[in-house]
Parts: sequence; structure tokens; C-alpha cells
Amino acid sequence: MGDLVLITGATGHVGFHVLLHALDTGYTVRAAVRSQDKADSLLAVPALKHRQVGSRLSFVVVPDLTKPGAYDAAVQGVRYIIHVASPLPTDGLTTDQFEAELLEPAVQGTLGILVSAQKTPTVRRVVITSSIAAIVPGGALDDGADTVFTAASRTPTPPVSSLQHPFQAYAASKVKALNETEAWVRRETPAFDVVNVFPSYVMGREEVHPTADRLTSHGTNRFLLGIALGAKSPVPAPGTTVHVDDVARVHVGALDAKVPGNTSYLVTSNNSVGSVDGTVWGDAAKFVAKNFPDAVASGALPNNGTQPSVALKFDTSKTESTFGFTHIPYEEQVKDVVGQYLEVVG
Ligand SMILES: NC(=O)c1ccc[n+]([C@@H]2O[C@H](COP(=O)([O-])OP(=O)(O)OC[C@H]3O[C@@H](n4cnc5c(N)ncnc54)[C@H](OP(=O)(O)O)[C@@H]3O)[C@@H](O)[C@H]2O)c1
Repeated sequence: MGDLVLITGATGHVGFHVLLHALDTGYTVRAAVRSQDKADSLLAVPALKHRQVGSRLSFVVVPDLTKPGAYDAAVQGVRYIIHVASPLPTDGLTTDQFEAELLEPAVQGTLGILVSAQKTPTVRRVVITSSIAAIVPGGALDDGADTVFTAASRTPTPPVSSLQHPFQAYAASKVKALNETEAWVRRETPAFDVVNVFPSYVMGREEVHPTADRLTSHGTNRFLLGIALGAKSPVPAPGTTVHVDDVARVHVGALDAKVPGNTSYLVTSNNSVGSVDGTVWGDAAKFVAKNFPDAVASGALPNNGTQPSVALKFDTSKTESTFGFTHIPYEEQVKDVVGQYLEVVG
């Protein structure tokens, strides 16, 4: 049996792909979930069922990740931790909910798992799912910037009183979790390494019980699907996307001792290989027209939606050279997301 990894957030889009990739790489996985029902539901997902992983996958229930010591039992005996769990923004959250619904779970969940790991001598490395939203200043997320962001970019945590929209509060939750993580590591100098991973907007097949409603209303695939389905979004979104397989590959690859500890990695596909220019959301329409001509002709995909892009630049060369891959391009992301939608709606 391979080394034991604790993975949080495996019931979500990113975490489930990380779970599959870890199992496929040969690790034994303990997945932390909020309830036994969630574990049972995950075991029923075809992509997991078909793998017949048997005793290489077990579950531990952690009902509230914000409670002190929440992960103490979960980390016992593990060599690695991949901490993915953290809330995404949902429409309709009001300013008085930002702290409890977004900031606290992101920050306390991350610091809590580090504190639990520190009490556990077997832990060698903790990989944390951060976000490009954690390293790009709020103004640049809204208006764009000429700066070329790298995994070394940082931005100060904004005051909670300045947060007006759920996405701003989500970004602040990721900034705060990252900044407090790095301060904690400097202060505590733990016996294990910490690696932060910064994905951009994650695109790819949603394996956990996909329905047309979920695909078009939850997570980040919906930005791309909206273009194919004719949604007219007036709100610009940062133009930067990444395939979920690349995100999973870097999380699991970061457990390898050959990857230096206490480092961080951007994962985003950019406009073309070697470029630092991000994705133009609207390019999805031309890729849909090229790859799904029958669905466009039949009207199943109106393919006339709009999603304005905020122009941002990222240098991902360190990630590609460390892990030895080239990011999967936007066209492939479009094919996977739209292809799955067409499968789901029949
Ligand atoms: N999607 C993106 O484009 C993107 C980009 C950059 C970074 N990220 C980061 O990737 C991670 C996962 O995102 P995702 O897209 O996979 O989102 P998702 O599909 O909504 O999954 C979120 C996961 O986190 C868990 N979670 C959320 N809030 C929680 C809480 N308060 N307590 C315990 N568990 C909680 C969920 O558990 P339940 O199933 O129990 O709700 C689920 O397993 C997050 O850290 C996110 O910030 C995502």
C-alpha cells in the first residue's frame, strides 16, 4: 500500500479529481468529509466505483472544520495532507454573512489543519489549495493589470469592512488564509513542509453527481457554459482558466520529495504555450462552433452568450519546469465542459 494521504474537500470539483489522481498514482487516501452520508454518496460516483480501490480509500468525518482540534483525529498516522476544502462564493450571500460563510472556514480550516499536523510526527508535507485570487490585488481582479503575476506575488489582506460582493469576500478569504498560513510557518517552523498551489478558474468534467442544473449554476464551469448556452453576463471575470486535470496533477505531484518544500505554484493555462497572457473567455464561442457544429446548428447550444474578461498576465514557467508538463489549453477545457453538458442533457 502507498503512503497515506489525508485529502479534504474530496466531495467537491477540485478535490474529487485530486482524490482520483492520488489513488491512480498509488497513494492510500483518507478523505475527510462532513458526514457519513457524503462519504456514501462519494462512493457511488461512477469514476470512483469503477476503480475498485477497496481498502486504499477510507473516510473520516469532520463535521465542522472551524472547531479547534477538528482535524486532530483525521491526521493521525498520515504522511501527507492535501487541504482542498474551502467554500466558493454563492450568489445572494450578504455582507453580514461573509465572515462566517467564507472567511472563517477558509482561514480556520487551513490554520486548524496545520496545528493538527504539528501535533503529528508522521506528517512530512501539507499541500494547500490556494487560488490566484489570493495573490492578485482586488483592484487588478476587477480592472486588470500589466503586472506579470508569479507564484511569489502577494497582496495584503483587505479589511472585511471593504468587502461588498461575494466574490470579493471569497478572494479575501483566500488572501487571508494564504497570508496567515505563511505567517504561521515563519513563526512555528514546523517539522513538515507547506506547498501552496494557486489555480485560476478551474474547468473540466464535474464527476460528483453532475446534473444540468448543477453544471450551469455551481462552480466555475458555469462561466464557460454560459457562453455556449447564450447567457449574457455583464460582469467581467478575470480571464484566466486551467484544466482540472492539471490542478490535480500539481497537487499530487507536489507530494514528491523531489519537489522542494515551502514553495508555491501557479496553475493556469494562459492564451498559448509560453505566453503570459491569460484566457479570453469569449474564445469559447469559436471553440464550441468548431467542436460541436451539430449542437450549434440544432440550437442545443445557442453559442451567443457573452462573458467579458479582465486581462491578467501570469508566468507559469516554474510550474511547468518543476512538474514537467505543459498546461492543457483552453480549447480542450471547452471541449470537456461543453461535451459533458451535452452528455448530461442527452
Ligand atoms: N473552482 C475554481 O475555479 C477554484 C479556483 C481556485 C481555487 N479553488 C479552490 O479549490 C478548492 C475547492 O474548490 P471547488 O471548485 O472544488 O469547490 P466545490 O466544488 O464547491 O468544493 C468545495 C469543497 O470544500 C468543502 N467545503 C466547502 N465549505 C466547507 C466548510 N465550511 N466546511 C467543510 N468543508 C467545506 C466542500 O464540502 P461539502 O461537499 O461538504 O460542501 C467541498 O468538498 C477551494 O479551496 C477553492 O478556493 C477553486
